[in-house]
Amino acid sequence: MSAARKHKAPKGTFDILPAEEATRDLVASHGDQLLDAAGYGRIETPAFEETELFARGVGESTDIVNKEMFSFTDRGDRSLTLRPEGTAAICRAYVEHGMHKDPQPVKLWYRGPFFRAEKPQKGRYRQFNQIGAEAIGTESPLADAELIVLLDELLRGLGIQDIELRLGSLGSPEVRAAYREELRDYLREHEGELSGEIRSRLDTNPLRAFDSDHPGTVEVMAEAPTMLARLEGDDAQHFETVKRLLDRAGVPYRLDPSLVRGLDYYTRTVFEFTCERLGAQSGIGGGGRYDGLIETLGGQPTPGVGWAAGVERIILALTEAPPPRVPEVFVVCGDGEQAFELVLDLRRHRVSAQFDLAGRSFKGQMKQADRSGARFAAILEQDGSAKLREMAGGEQQDVAPGALAETVIAARP
Ligand code: HAM
Repeated sequence: MSAARKHKAPKGTFDILPAEEATRDLVASHGDQLLDAAGYGRIETPAFEETELFARGVGESTDIVNKEMFSFTDRGDRSLTLRPEGTAAICRAYVEHGMHKDPQPVKLWYRGPFFRAEKPQKGRYRQFNQIGAEAIGTESPLADAELIVLLDELLRGLGIQDIELRLGSLGSPEVRAAYREELRDYLREHEGELSGEIRSRLDTNPLRAFDSDHPGTVEVMAEAPTMLARLEGDDAQHFETVKRLLDRAGVPYRLDPSLVRGLDYYTRTVFEFTCERLGAQSGIGGGGRYDGLIETLGGQPTPGVGWAAGVERIILALTEAPPPRVPEVFVVCGDGEQAFELVLDLRRHRVSAQFDLAGRSFKGQMKQADRSGARFAAILEQDGSAKLREMAGGEQQDVAPGALAETVIAARP
């Protein structure tokens, strides 16, 4: 065995330390409440799935499937992949559990860790967390609008103001197939000006050229035909209704004909919330409609729409940190065992209490009480009497040890 060495968390992953949990809890509980109140039920799917689910669902030509999956072979020679996103797995669960028999749409939400082998940078990690929501089993633009408004409320409710909603539509697969041909022809005419990567993808995924930051490609794409301009019939009407509903909800948006998103399952509505303050990784949450996905995964033709937001990017965009969690009482006592008993009694009364676990002097314990941010110090004297001291103002009162809990409870704001 090699000599002991200090280990580090793997590249692109991170530890979440206790001081950061308050912010995470705030984001999570805000999301939970919002989605629960809107009638979405929480679903949890495994952290890994069969590789083929993502290859089929997310699409063979996407960066996610081509370059970013953490895949491994298990002992039974099955290829498995740490989930890079949630939608394919949720659609798998919808089919597997026969949710088409439930009243439609089935409205689900989720949060948890996801994994992509991307090049790490600020806001881009290899293990990150998403909060997401999906409405499966309705084609109605009302569902698109409800979901977009919920994501807007999630972000604004957390105090993130400087966000922009980019909105587009990819139409239905048939119209998009014709458009793809048109775009491919256009790109071929300009092949010499495009990046090598885009050139190599002309056949499989010409739409990705809209995402390129290669200067020559960007210039070519500025003049490229757009899908938005080709929308017709039911697709155009669907998109008009989504826009009208967002207007009615007072949610501003910018039409973005170049919005293609990095997953292949989208049809019709696509959207992305960006926050400039995040820098290069400005996409804070995004989603869209995926009317063909469930059929691709072996289910009955079933439309669906949803989004996911990155928890770490939300946290980076927050301007105000939540107040730190502090105990109500810090027990100060020369006798550790006596303090132990009093703390347990306070906790039984649902008063949050802490005490010294390291044999500090009385003075050291008072310092610790101060550092803990506790509202009160309960000072137990040797003779069995007790004082309750309000740390901020220094006022002190005598309280019988047995009455400490009720005194603290009565003093709550
Ligand atoms: P996505 O745009 O790939 O969509 O990811 C959603 C969000 O996850 C992004 O906006 C971003 O905030 C966060 N995110 C993605 N990759 C990373 C990363 N490497 N590090 C940190 N955060 C990241 C989806 O995943 C779709 N499943 C959304 C959806 C749901 N579409 C329909 N329903």
